[in-house]
Amino acid sequence: MKNLAIFASGNGSNFEALACANLNCNIRVLICNKKDAYVIKRAQKIGIKYEIVESENYSKKDYEKKIIELLQAYEIELIILAGYMKIFSSDFVDKYSNKIINIHPSKLPNYRGLNAVERAFSNNDKEIGVSVHFVDSGVDTGNVIACECINVSDDDTLEDVFKKIHDLEHSLYPKVLRRIL
Ligand code: GRF
Repeated sequence: MKNLAIFASGNGSNFEALACANLNCNIRVLICNKKDAYVIKRAQKIGIKYEIVESENYSKKDYEKKIIELLQAYEIELIILAGYMKIFSSDFVDKYSNKIINIHPSKLPNYRGLNAVERAFSNNDKEIGVSVHFVDSGVDTGNVIACECINVSDDDTLEDVFKKIHDLEHSLYPKVLRRIL
């Protein structure tokens, strides 16, 4: 069974969905770069170890050095990003080439970067996607592994759309990882 680390910075609903799914792996640790992130409470509740490395307290180089030390200490083989709001340097990505996976709420290559759902919604898109992809040194530019969509109805609010997107993410991410693992 592979050793995984999940990286998250915020709410952590995808972290929880993965932690509670029946994946054929060891989720060794949650790595979080924000000390007040709600995802830490989720890790405590589920009983998964967590490490907080506050990115704002380090230079990018020192931050990534600390992260690499942790990944080595936990013998991590696959890095799963789930709402992790930091971009890795190309040195870091090269070191873990094809071993970093992310989930992004759009039909990539559309709407890379921040506020993807808001942008698709305000463009009146009738289909909004969720993509699982390998991470390269760009923002949401790596090879797409899987993509599924939700339908937006005329009376859906942005909140309704977010709910649909999250529900899809919580089933798609475990499904894709199960396949990879
Ligand atoms: C998700 O929409 C994911 O696609 C994006 O960040 C969001 C994280 O949500 N990368 P959560 O923290 O897992 O609830």
